[in-house]
Amino acid sequence: MNTPASPPAAVVTIVTGSSRGIGKAIAEALAKAGHRLLLTARDAASLQAVATSLRQGGATVATVAADLREEGAVATIVATAERELGPITAVVSNAGTAPSDKIENTTPAMLRETFDLHVGAPLAFARATAPAMKKRGSGCLVHLASTAGLRGYPFTAAYTAAKHGMVGLARALHAELAPAGVRVFALCPGFVDSDITRGAAAAIAARGKTTADAAFARMAAQNRIGRMHLPHEVAAAVAWLLREQPTGCVYDLDRPTPAFLD
Ligand SMILES: NC(=O)c1ccc[n+]([C@@H]2O[C@H](COP(=O)([O-])OP(=O)(O)OC[C@H]3O[C@@H](n4cnc5c(N)ncnc54)[C@H](OP(=O)(O)O)[C@@H]3O)[C@@H](O)[C@H]2O)c1
Repeated sequence: MNTPASPPAAVVTIVTGSSRGIGKAIAEALAKAGHRLLLTARDAASLQAVATSLRQGGATVATVAADLREEGAVATIVATAERELGPITAVVSNAGTAPSDKIENTTPAMLRETFDLHVGAPLAFARATAPAMKKRGSGCLVHLASTAGLRGYPFTAAYTAAKHGMVGLARALHAELAPAGVRVFALCPGFVDSDITRGAAAAIAARGKTTADAAFARMAAQNRIGRMHLPHEVAAAVAWLLREQPTGCVYDLDRPTPAFLD
């Protein structure tokens, strides 16, 4: 007698900062790979626009508009994902801002806010989701870090410190959770063509010494790959990590082929 095969478990993934840029590209790639998605960012309208377009392509998508720096935001997102989509398979902590200024203008408040978003939120997601993942012996936490988490860039003290914190948090979580079957990754692209880099180029141009195009080109030239990374390339790397679940933790994308660091 044939035993009926049990249906494959649904893959439920939370993607933060999925209203535009890299997060939106990640949501599109994961929807294509069959993930059920919880999308979150602050701006409800742009979030809805992404969700609607993914649903039109056949994806199952829930949304929560929230500021991740606010108390209780992560708990609401996790509870909504579990209620509407099922047990959480993966969290992609991608939401971020990149404040840029001289060190004398980098205030403790700026540092705190940047850490809350890039380190505090991923930690809160790990606290909320790791216990169930450990019990199941599977699950994934992906931190969208940066080469600013691996080396220093000028005029970005708060961001560079926070991204180093994000990579450090991934390493600690990896050490603690990998033995229980939970994979933790920090993915580190160089400069990516998105609102963050376009905004930074415009801000540099506004100081009057160069054009936005020239500033954008200078950022691209700082990448080892010699050009801007593209959001869909970063998204493909996230989809690969979630699909293949390799054993490493930190991946430097700013190389001709993604380089495993440790
Ligand atoms: N662009 C680059 O060159 C680059 C390079 C390496 C790494 N990264 C990292 O990649 C990630 C995505 O960057 P991106 O370039 O795609 O930026 P982006 O286009 O500006 O998108 C940022 C996303 O994060 C959301 N977000 C920002 N602050 C938030 C908050 N307080 N609470 C909840 N959501 C928030 C934004 O939506 P709302 O504004 O509606 O909240 C948006 O969806 C960031 O972590 C960034 O540090 C970027």
